[in-house]
This record gives sequence, structure tokens and C-alpha cells, in this order.
Amino acid sequence: MVVKRKKTMYETMKGRRIIITGPTAGIGKEIAIQLAATGADLVLGCRRLERGKQVAEEISKINGVTSSIDVMLLDTSSFESILNFSREYKKRFSSLDILVNNAGVNCAEQPREDSVDGIELTFATNVLGYYLLTRELLDVLKAAAPSRIVNVASTFASDPDLDDVEFKRRPYDGMKAYSQSKACDRLITWAFARRLEKSGVTANAMAPGLVPTSNLFSKMSPETQNMLKQRGGTNPAQGADTAVWLSSNPEVEYINGKFFEQRREIGCEFRNIEHEEKLWDICEGMISQFSPNV
Ligand SMILES: NC(=O)c1ccc[n+]([C@@H]2O[C@H](COP(=O)([O-])OP(=O)(O)OC[C@H]3O[C@@H](n4cnc5c(N)ncnc54)[C@H](OP(=O)(O)O)[C@@H]3O)[C@@H](O)[C@H]2O)c1
Repeated sequence: MVVKRKKTMYETMKGRRIIITGPTAGIGKEIAIQLAATGADLVLGCRRLERGKQVAEEISKINGVTSSIDVMLLDTSSFESILNFSREYKKRFSSLDILVNNAGVNCAEQPREDSVDGIELTFATNVLGYYLLTRELLDVLKAAAPSRIVNVASTFASDPDLDDVEFKRRPYDGMKAYSQSKACDRLITWAFARRLEKSGVTANAMAPGLVPTSNLFSKMSPETQNMLKQRGGTNPAQGADTAVWLSSNPEVEYINGKFFEQRREIGCEFRNIEHEEKLWDICEGMISQFSPNV
């Protein structure tokens, strides 16, 4: 009698391809390091190619890492860059097993800044970046099903003002723009998860916890940075853990539309189908203004 041995996580990840956005610092870099250790092949989506190549080299030198690591140009605040990246990816690869949307900015304590497409930078990067990249890669994700979308969100999130996501009517507040964007990351995850039900592609969101040593707070005043450090928190490796687990663990392969922290499902106070769909329409509207053919 042949006894079937349960595959280990490492065996199941060999031959799988993962895109990680924002892998050049903080949590994203740790996600890349930990996923490379599972044997999966990585595509690092970086806005700074040279830095991306340095990170890829660093990871490939880690003992035991056999993954292939490709570095591709991706600015998640730019529609054109996302479209170019997706096109280029599909020329090179026919399927995608896991997409980790992680690249993010926090413009707290900064004056308002707009993206190249004229959209408030935090919303453009943290929300539209997740939305458009996922939308553009859905066909290759479906081609690899069972496949996964893992969105790095946060528990630091507040009620989005869906009538003024870009702070055109409200006075601009970078901190509110950030916490709104992290709530939107969850709303858009639930909207994708609903559409992907039974497709073999799952979409989940996770919260890394406070990681005060990442670059996310580097533009804030020394007082704020000290205050955050005094609050404790965790390190980038621990912050990455739940995203890595969601990306690679066979036990969560078919879990869809859930929110996780420290590998445990937690509630999301923003669940509201009407709001999720409204945000979806806002994203579609902004993208079609850029180019009606997108
Ligand atoms: N740190 C925390 O306490 C915390 C807590 C909850 C959630 N999060 C979330 O975790 C994610 C990662 O944050 P982090 O703390 O690791 O921040 P980080 O150290 O600042 O790293 C951010 C990464 O995103 C990249 N990035 C930023 N804007 C980009 C763009 N337009 N196009 C492409 N890449 C871009 C950065 O690239 P460069 O190296 O080129 O700058 C970097 O690789 C974010 O989504 C954040 O909201 C963080």
C-alpha cells in the first residue's frame, strides 16, 4: 500500500511564483526574505530598480535560498507604471500564484502631495495601487488557481469619507489620509473577495501590527518617531509573519475575504457592502478618467 505523505509548506511552494510590492524596506523586505525561504520564485515590484537588485542579491545570498528572484520596475502610485508592469509580467510569465500588495506610504505631518496622475498620493499608492495592480493581474491569478491575493492593511484605520477620499472638501490631514487608506485596503479586499468567490482565487487582508523601525514613519518629526518607538510594537520580521503565512500555508488556501492579525482572524468594523461597492466605483472612475481604455 502506498502511504501518501502530507506535503510540507516548503514542498508546496516550490515552483510557485509570487509578486511582492514594496520589497525594498521594512515589512515588504521581510516578506520577501521569508517567502524566498519557502522555495517559491519571487518577482519584486520596486520603484527603485537598483535598490531592488541589491535586495534580491542580499536575499539570494541567504543560506539555503534557491528561489529565482526577478526585479521589475513598479511605481504603485502611477497608473502607467502599474499597466506597464502588468503587461511586462504577462509577457514573461503565464500565471501568478500569489500577489502580495504591500507597497505603501504614510504622509502624516507632510503637506499634501499628488501622484503623477493628479491623485492625492496616499490614496493613489495605498488604495488605487492595490486595486489596479490586482485588477490587471486577475487573469494570471485565475490561470494559477488555487491562487491568493494578500493585502497588507492595518488595524490603524479609520472610517473612510467616501464622498471626499482625496480631501478636496476637508482640510488635508496626512495622518487621516493614511488611516483612511488602510480602511479602504480592507473594503477593496472584501469587494475583490466577493467577486472571486468560487474562482479559486482568494483575497484576504492582514495587519502587521506597529513596526516603528520601518521607513514608514521616517518623514515624521523625531518626537513622533520617539513616541511610536516608546509604544513598543514589533520588528519587521514579526510584522511580515502573517502575510507570509497567508501566502504559503496550505491550511489557508481556500480562506477568502477575511482579516488576520498574528495568524488569527479578527473582525473588521468597516464591513459594509454598499461602502465596498462605492469604493470600487470610485477606483474605477479615477482610473477611467486617466484613460477610458484602461
Ligand atoms: N510599519 C507599520 O507600523 C505598519 C503597520 C501597519 C501596516 N503597515 C503597512 O505595511 C506596508 C509596508 O510598510 P512598511 O512599514 O514596511 O513601510 P516602509 O519601510 O516605508 O516600506 C514601504 C515599501 O513600499 C515601497 N513603496 C512606497 N511607495 C511606493 C510606490 N509608489 N511604488 C512602489 N513602491 C513603493 C517602498 O519603496 P522605497 O524603498 O523605494 O521607498 C518600500 O519598499 C504598508 O502598506 C503599510 O501601510 C505598516
